[in-house]
Amino acid sequence: MRPVICAGNWKMHKTGREAVAFVDAFLPLASALPGRVEIVLCPPFTALAAIRAKLDGSRVRLGAQDVHWEESGAFTGAISAPMLREYGVHYVIIGHSERREYFGDTDLTVRLKTAAALAGGLTPIVAVGETIALRDAGKTLSHVTLQTRAALEGLSQADVARVVLAYEPIWAIGTGRSCDPSEANAVMAEMRACVPGLRDVPILYGGSVKPENIAAYTTQPEIDGGLVGGASLDPSSFAALCEKAS
Ligand code: 13P
Repeated sequence: MRPVICAGNWKMHKTGREAVAFVDAFLPLASALPGRVEIVLCPPFTALAAIRAKLDGSRVRLGAQDVHWEESGAFTGAISAPMLREYGVHYVIIGHSERREYFGDTDLTVRLKTAAALAGGLTPIVAVGETIALRDAGKTLSHVTLQTRAALEGLSQADVARVVLAYEPIWAIGTGRSCDPSEANAVMAEMRACVPGLRDVPILYGGSVKPENIAAYTTQPEIDGGLVGGASLDPSSFAALCEKAS
């Protein structure tokens, strides 16, 4: 059975001090949640050190929001998988649409980063999703399956089995306009079928997920949790969301 995963993508929010305040409020709430949910916090790089010690021994796992594909080298501003591992990071989001739009991430760099994360012992959360223009043109499935195949190209079956996928329709991110759960489910069924070995891989939905709507997603057969932006920034909201997801 696939796990239920709730991953909070904090994006460029919270200083180290603010992250610590979140964790202090969140951990008591998280410890009361059903054990079936895997809870992940993905703060900015600069907050990893501040909250790592607090998360040690808790049920909450640490994630990062990006990783470089090389282990080290002349890549000003970049962070590698071994560097993240040193900070106790388990997960890393790769290919988020904001990275693709504002930082030049492409299908190729997403593939390289995914392979590097796996080689470095991290679990990649590979994000794919279509723009509103692609959706209106009826190209959602072809686009999302293309991105999925490109990200996983060349991976061994053993590595494919270690990946987490996220379907985030770009038009639903931060807009309050969430995707119809049965439509998201249908997209994920296509994603699962487009590369061999994805049957047991968790697929998360992202895009205006809130405590009020998460259960409508996780009760769909193909949807295994949420990749959550805005609603992960407040401890009680994120705890409520994790509870409803289970
Ligand atoms: P929102 O939950 O704020 O729509 O953001 C979704 C997202 O981009 C998570 O990665």
